[in-house]
Amino acid sequence: PLAITDYLRQHIRTVPDWPAPGVQFRDITPLLQDPRVFRVLIDAFVHRYMEPARRPEVVAGLDARGFIIGSVIAYELGVGFVPIRKKGKLPYTTVQETFELEYGSATVELHTDAVTPGQRVLLIDDLIATGGTMMAGKKLLEKLGATVTEGAAIVVLPELGGAQRLREAGLELFTLVDFA
Ligand code: PRP
Ligand code: HPA
Repeated sequence: PLAITDYLRQHIRTVPDWPAPGVQFRDITPLLQDPRVFRVLIDAFVHRYMEPARRPEVVAGLDARGFIIGSVIAYELGVGFVPIRKKGKLPYTTVQETFELEYGSATVELHTDAVTPGQRVLLIDDLIATGGTMMAGKKLLEKLGATVTEGAAIVVLPELGGAQRLREAGLELFTLVDFA
């Protein structure tokens, strides 16, 4: 029998030189396209977070691919979903966090009433590269007093050091597939 991680890895497409020369882009769209694979993917997260000690009160998803899996995981866990969005998309009052990209910077936002102090939040994205996006998400949730119990992603790129930085910042991580 094929381990889940190998099964999922076989359904991630690598696109060379996208969006820039030298980048091997790990494309998760084939995972979502095949209904059997999509179910295996979502169930891997749901199985982990249904466990009473790990069950969050809220799932927060990172724009945009974190929304695709985060909302389904929240629905299956029977908890609410809150979006962390790129700047300028959320209509109500927000907290903001700016972080460095390879070239320039990016800002993400969260509605001020998205979580409450002490709430246990699971933070979801599709992929961890430098970790900057997930770190910004953690900071936003913590600005509102929430506790980020774990960060989870389908893919981690360990060579970029993001996962290590996130763990050093005190975030527990759960990922399904790594690409060296
Ligand atoms: C990608 C990916 C993560 C982030 C990972 O999103 O989906 O959110 O980058 O990189 P990092 O660990 O270096 O922060 P992107 O900004 O391409 O946005 P998208 O999901 O809207 O395409
Ligand atoms: N795939 C998807 N998103 C990404 C990647 C990648 O390889 N690198 C940074 N964000």
